[in-house]
Amino acid sequence: MKIEVVPSILSADPGRLAEQVKEAEAAGADRIQVDVMDGHFVPNLTFGPLIVEAVRQATSLPVEAHLMIERPELFLEAFAKAGATLIEVQVEATKSLYRTVQTIKELGAQAGVAINPATPVDDLREILPYVDLVNVMTVEPGFGGQKFIPHSPEKIRRLRSISADVEIEVDGGIDARTAPLVVAAGATVLVAGSSVFGYKAGVAAGIKAIRDSVG
Ligand code: DX5
Repeated sequence: MKIEVVPSILSADPGRLAEQVKEAEAAGADRIQVDVMDGHFVPNLTFGPLIVEAVRQATSLPVEAHLMIERPELFLEAFAKAGATLIEVQVEATKSLYRTVQTIKELGAQAGVAINPATPVDDLREILPYVDLVNVMTVEPGFGGQKFIPHSPEKIRRLRSISADVEIEVDGGIDARTAPLVVAAGATVLVAGSSVFGYKAGVAAGIKAIRDSVG
């Protein structure tokens, strides 16, 4: 499977968002991720559908919305209308995961589920056949620039042993050092915030460093 690099805008300069998204697109990013946080599911408050719309207008790349929010089912239509091509919900955040995944697909978007570091892979068994992507969080969600959790590759291996073809995305602490570890374990989609938008030598060099690290 092709390895995709997906810059997340949490670490981008909010005053230059469109410019930074265009930089990432020009540097060969595969998708852009908008890290949506509500201050309840995670102790941080970030973006809503308006920002998904702004990002969609700034790029021709697919835009994914990672909903780190309680009761994501209340906002699916808003994010789909804003132009999210893939909507990811946290399995811990809804009591009706099956209906939520079905609704995302009825709205015409791809459906992803994300699991926090302490959530077992086995919690995904029943929903796996219905989703396009699983995001294995490699940090506790809420902030950019956190430390990669060392047990993550072993967890990714366990998920890959359950499903040979699901897209496995990883998110949090992904850089040129950790990318080879997660790809060797079976990850195919690398979300990177601070190692791209916070990269000293610039966005293009940050994306290149990650791509070069996985060959
Ligand atoms: C959840 C956020 C971060 C972000 C990536 O905390 O959604 O995972 O995408 O942040 P970095 O790449 O800076 O760890």
